[in-house]
Amino acid sequence: MTKIAPSILSADFAKLGQEIQEVVDGGADYIHIDVMDGHFVPNITIGPLIVDAVRPVTDLPLDVHLMIENAEQYIEAFAKAGADIITVHQEANVHLHRTLQLIKSHGVKAGVVINPATPAEAIKPILPDVDLVLLMTVNPGFGGQSFIESVVPKIQQIADWRKEMDLSFEIEIDGGVNSETAKTCVEAGADVLVAGSAVFNKKDRKAAIEAIKNTY
Ligand code: DX5
Ligand code: ZN
Repeated sequence: MTKIAPSILSADFAKLGQEIQEVVDGGADYIHIDVMDGHFVPNITIGPLIVDAVRPVTDLPLDVHLMIENAEQYIEAFAKAGADIITVHQEANVHLHRTLQLIKSHGVKAGVVINPATPAEAIKPILPDVDLVLLMTVNPGFGGQSFIESVVPKIQQIADWRKEMDLSFEIEIDGGVNSETAKTCVEAGADVLVAGSAVFNKKDRKAAIEAIKNTY
């Protein structure tokens, strides 16, 4: 069964603990945490302090998506704060193997992310080194944007290479995922779906998660 990772970017930060508890009770599989630095993306969000505050709220894996430059400077802080998965962008990391090794050296799962316009080929050489591949289906920076349909063949491509190369990383999709777009991602090979506004903009979070899961 494809997992759901609600993104707290669309949660009410004045009551973040309660918001997370609701999605945990509603059937979330991971908690997705969007870290933005105002340089790699045009928005500023969360630092290690918030990850540390969220850690005692749930045992679910904290899936930390770094949309930042100089990620290697902050890996240790996010690992110590309690991240279970840390993903870094191919576009923002020149020395990808080094960054991924650094993440793993802290006992954290390491993933690589690519933007919608970045071809799958850009991460092919790194696939044997990752625990997770995150494919963006919006340009990162904000919640609530529309799903970019043209990324779907890339999901299939990564899934095909995973099989050919006999690898076992997870494929995660992030951006514009809702009850209309989830099925196409799952059919193409997605294992984890990030959903921000489709979960947190609904009053009943359990129903919102189920509405997505019921489509596949
Ligand atoms: C976008 C973030 C996403 C975002 C998704 O930059 O990486 O995780 O929260 O939000 P929705 O699901 O609303 O597109
Ligand atoms: Zn994200």
